[in-house]
Amino acid sequence: MAPLIAARGVEKHFPVTRKFSEVLRGERPINRAVDGIDLTIGEGETVGLLGESGCGKTTTGRLLLKLTQPTGGTIQFAGEDLNQVKGPALKRFRQQAQLVFQNPFDALNPRFTIFRALREPLLNAGIPETEHADRMWTAMRRVRLPDVDAYYDRYPHQLSGGQLQRVVLARALVLEPRFLVADEPVSMLDVSVRAGILNVMRDVHATMGLTAVYISHDFALVRYVCARTVVMYLGKIVEDGPSAEVVERPQHPYTKALVQAVPVPDVNQSRAPLPIKGSLSQAQAPQGGCRFRDRCPYAFERCASEEPLMREIVPGHKAACHLL
Ligand SMILES: Nc1ncnc2c1ncn2[C@@H]1O[C@H](COP(=O)(O)OP(=O)(O)OP(=O)(O)O)[C@@H](O)[C@H]1O
Ligand SMILES: [Mg+2]
Repeated sequence: MAPLIAARGVEKHFPVTRKFSEVLRGERPINRAVDGIDLTIGEGETVGLLGESGCGKTTTGRLLLKLTQPTGGTIQFAGEDLNQVKGPALKRFRQQAQLVFQNPFDALNPRFTIFRALREPLLNAGIPETEHADRMWTAMRRVRLPDVDAYYDRYPHQLSGGQLQRVVLARALVLEPRFLVADEPVSMLDVSVRAGILNVMRDVHATMGLTAVYISHDFALVRYVCARTVVMYLGKIVEDGPSAEVVERPQHPYTKALVQAVPVPDVNQSRAPLPIKGSLSQAQAPQGGCRFRDRCPYAFERCASEEPLMREIVPGHKAACHLL
């Protein structure tokens, strides 16, 4: 499989608002939201990006779409360095790489009909008008809203959440992109409509051969839609492998804890706390060594002195841990 995306040493460091005392001491604290990611994604691959809140998933997705500039490293898309892409090449990239938002209610302009919402990207991209109807119809059929006439002159508030998320997906597909990033695409939807949307997404991959990154907290969703799963911890990738392997035979202690914490399918039972110490909101990436060591039940001396690198544990399945 030829890589569509090749990210090398990608970093996004945000400046943190300084306390007065820090300003006086000349300190410049930074948030290492994404801190040196290597990620190669083959054409047609579906990758689930998992990890606790705040570990850098959305920032990674935005970097891959060039919606934010990296503070370090390079990302190649179809062989082109995104840091260098400008002008007409950037416009082409914007057509080929699309984002699906978490909240369908925010993603569409409430004053635009569905017709106008679907047509807008075509107009912006300068697609000949003779192709519009065909492209819009194809996109609506792909998301299983084939009764196009029933939706065209409606406004977002006249649709259910599930219908709306399909329209949002159709809008992302109308330009026939090669790459899609879906950030928590069903987390705002009722459980009863999620399965329908996930089936649509699986179909879309099968029929369009689309390359996609799904950002989620949900192992079950990622396993259902994505062939490959990547787990992030505090700005780093700690595990990467086939989804079934990662869920059934997690290697990294952090992934093991995440898998154990997967909620039981019972609405009355809340998600079990992670069987590791502390939470990400308190966790500060310790300097040097393994950044998970403060929470890891198995940490030993080497974890403080040497950063574990990603290596293949079983063919096709990588993790970064000194114990493995
Ligand atoms: N524009 C920004 N300016 C400053 N800090 C930011 C910015 N965007 C994100 N961050 C910080 O970067 C870190 C990673 O954020 P990010 O949104 O990528 O996490 P996430 O994994 O998507 O979390 P969630 O699961 O809650 O959506 C967080 O600490 C966040 O506060
Ligand atoms: Mg996020």
